Amino acid sequence: PRKIIIDTDPGQDDAAAIMLAFGSPEAIDVLGVTTVAGNVPLPLTARNARIVCELCGRPDVKVFAGADAPLKRPLVTAEHVHGRTGLDGPDFDEPTMPLQEKHAVDFIVDTLRSEPAGTVTLCTLGPLTNVALALQQAPDIAGRVAELVMMGGGFFEGGNITPAAEFNIYVDPEAAEVVFRSGIPIVMMPLDVTHKVMTLKSRVAKIRAIGTAPAIALVEMLEFFERFDVEKYGSDGGPLHDPTVIAYLLRPELFGGRDCNVMIETSSPLTAGMTVVDWWQVTGRAHNARVMREVDADGFFELLTERVARL
Ligand code: BDR
Ligand code: CA
Repeated sequence: PRKIIIDTDPGQDDAAAIMLAFGSPEAIDVLGVTTVAGNVPLPLTARNARIVCELCGRPDVKVFAGADAPLKRPLVTAEHVHGRTGLDGPDFDEPTMPLQEKHAVDFIVDTLRSEPAGTVTLCTLGPLTNVALALQQAPDIAGRVAELVMMGGGFFEGGNITPAAEFNIYVDPEAAEVVFRSGIPIVMMPLDVTHKVMTLKSRVAKIRAIGTAPAIALVEMLEFFERFDVEKYGSDGGPLHDPTVIAYLLRPELFGGRDCNVMIETSSPLTAGMTVVDWWQVTGRAHNARVMREVDADGFFELLTERVARL
């Protein structure tokens, strides 16, 4: 199995991503889950990550808390989408599994140094603060990461927190800049992909039909999460952003994209956090990311449903 670290700010869609990973043990070995401030403040993301591990029957997984604020900016959160706890929907008990004492950034650095180079994949589902801090603290790790697969950014699709910026990049553009300049092979799942994987009623019904506690909890999370889009845009369901990262590891053929240069806007107040994707190769700038644009949404939901049924 492929060894991964999941860096996350749960978040109902983060929860779905973690469930997809735990439902795929033959392909994915989760070395640890690191949490970052994003959708909600750090104490809640560290709590929520443990709730999801317990929901999946995996209290043995190591969960680490990381950065409680972006590198240079005050934290912006998204309770308007995810609710007060970040995981609103089901009634969860407080987690009982431990939070590791080690800082998430130290875990990322130590793991990348101790595992053979090129064998650990970073999966980032939130702002890139922890990975940027790890790179600043230990620049040697850049050459040891197999791949960094991220949910973040948007180009033809625009932004979701400002007209120009997607939430994960907007929260910490300086961190994103560190990551995109690092030389780590990056795969980017932008809004251009994630806005195509909608939690349509027919798709959610198939997850509900599994009937297990994890499946029902996931449905209740998704029904809370999608209400933002359903009420605001009248859409049938909401975009299931973060699980696309794990789905890419499992079934890369579900996605289509191309290698591009991506730069991050950090100074303009109007467009801070914008991912400037050179899709048409109009600059001579070197490629630094594989940017996805297409997805087989039905195939994605079939995969998610099949793997959640195993939990
Ligand atoms: C991203 O922002 C968060 O609210 C979601 O969890 C996802 O990671 C989408 O813009
Ligand atoms: Ca997230």
